[in-house]
Amino acid sequence: MPVVRDRNIRVLIDPATIAARNAEMAREVAEAGYNNLLVISILKGSFVFAADLIRALHWAGIAPEVEFLSLSSYREGTVSSGAVTVVRDIESDVGGRDVLLIDDILESGRTLAFAREMMLSRGAARVGIAVLLDKPGHRAAAIDADHVGFMCPDLFVVGYGMDVAHAFRELPFVGVVEE
Ligand code: IMP
Ligand code: MG
Repeated sequence: MPVVRDRNIRVLIDPATIAARNAEMAREVAEAGYNNLLVISILKGSFVFAADLIRALHWAGIAPEVEFLSLSSYREGTVSSGAVTVVRDIESDVGGRDVLLIDDILESGRTLAFAREMMLSRGAARVGIAVLLDKPGHRAAAIDADHVGFMCPDLFVVGYGMDVAHAFRELPFVGVVEE
């Protein structure tokens, strides 16, 4: 029996819906015409989405290189405080490269604004952004994603790589913790 700790999780986006949207997003990325693409998965939250999206990219005819950038955005409980720091940097030189940043959620936009600025300052030729979820209600940085999986209601979501207090990343769907 699968175990979901001792909490009730309501499924918001089921696995089949996520998989179908990933395939569409991969086709959108292919049509966007990135050259010699380097995808950068922003950890930890995007690791499940990135793993699925890069395989969808394969079926869409894209053979990307893959990097991982571990960023920490300090949070008080479920609210973002502002500061973003690099926990573990990428290893590749992005100079002259087309880059696609992959993250789980675009909310305040601070994380992706920081990552985009980092890549542009290192001379990336193009920096695209793909997110599974867009929560537009709390934007603090002027940033939008080029590729969005789903608009997300103003709820704290977990699963499919996303956590609350380090729990629930393993869930194969996007859900909401019911109190
Ligand atoms: P922001 O856009 O800089 O505010 O940060 C977005 C990051 O906050 C995401 O990459 C997630 O790691 C985290 N985050 C925002 N909303 C949620 C949520 O509802 N559940 C889990 N993590 C979230
Ligand atoms: Mg994150």
